[in-house]
Amino acid sequence: MPQKKPQVVVTRKLPDAIETRMMELFDVSLNLSDEPMSKSQLVEAVKNAEVLVPTLTDRIDAGILAQAGDKLRLIANYGTGVDHIDLATARSRGITVTNTPDVLTEDTADMTMALILAASRRLSEGEKLLRSGDWTGWSPTGITGHRIYGKRLGIIGMGRIGTAVARRAKGFGLSVHYHNRHRVHPDTEAELEATFWESLDQMLARMDIISVNCPHTPGTYHLLSARRLKLVQSHVYIINTSRGEVIDENALTRMLKAGDLAGAGLDVFENEPAVNPKLLEMDNVVLLPHMGSATIEGRLDMGEKVLINIKTFVDGHKPPDRVLGEAF
Ligand code: DGY
Repeated sequence: MPQKKPQVVVTRKLPDAIETRMMELFDVSLNLSDEPMSKSQLVEAVKNAEVLVPTLTDRIDAGILAQAGDKLRLIANYGTGVDHIDLATARSRGITVTNTPDVLTEDTADMTMALILAASRRLSEGEKLLRSGDWTGWSPTGITGHRIYGKRLGIIGMGRIGTAVARRAKGFGLSVHYHNRHRVHPDTEAELEATFWESLDQMLARMDIISVNCPHTPGTYHLLSARRLKLVQSHVYIINTSRGEVIDENALTRMLKAGDLAGAGLDVFENEPAVNPKLLEMDNVVLLPHMGSATIEGRLDMGEKVLINIKTFVDGHKPPDRVLGEAF
């Protein structure tokens, strides 16, 4: 007798190839309009699904999980960050959570380098000037930014993405410094010629560029607090491709406005999709709409991971990308 297909609810539109494969494998409910689900739609989904496939735009908190039906056994997140899911509640209800690590590492590291260059070399300002029609030609003093070669890059969070950023940064002639909960393997440190700073405060006070690459967890919320940001020198650029919540965005904005920082490159924000309106007015910040992992290849790979996680789970095996704890 053919086995009954598991009921899977997907909360956002995924790449066509992934949705097609989902339909072949599972009894799936797709979101073709791509409108983010409301709270009541999410409740409905967790009540009826055996597997939920959310993304970072869905808040799967304790209140939502409290209303989950007995059938819900797996949350197969489309994305690596899982700070939008109440992991402790999921665990206490026996719900397995998986994510999609590795496949967006290189794309996010590329975007981090893009922001380092864009902020320090004033790419947005240059493009704006050219498009405005006000560009009068080359000038010795026009649109001068700062050289990154030879500067010190402080990476906060030396996991997969932080390490991939460090590799690229070394190629650009930056010296690599990092703060992490654990020191990385000596071979990796040697390969990257990286300096470990046990004290984040001390590292912050000595860098030229700071890149946030740690996940958002209860322990990293506002890790770059107003107090810590004050330790940073005024010529520094702050780059964030991780999660907005790791930086106190209001404090950062105040400092950028006051000239206490040179600039910032931000792909993520504390209250997405809202962005502090004061940031929008500033020329010394490069702002992107959370597109660090936005490559067609990456999004397909993320979908493949979701498919594999669901399939192995429903076949009675341990899915490869189980989220076990919080790392930084
Ligand atoms: C993730 O997967 O958590 C990323 O932020 C998506 O870009």
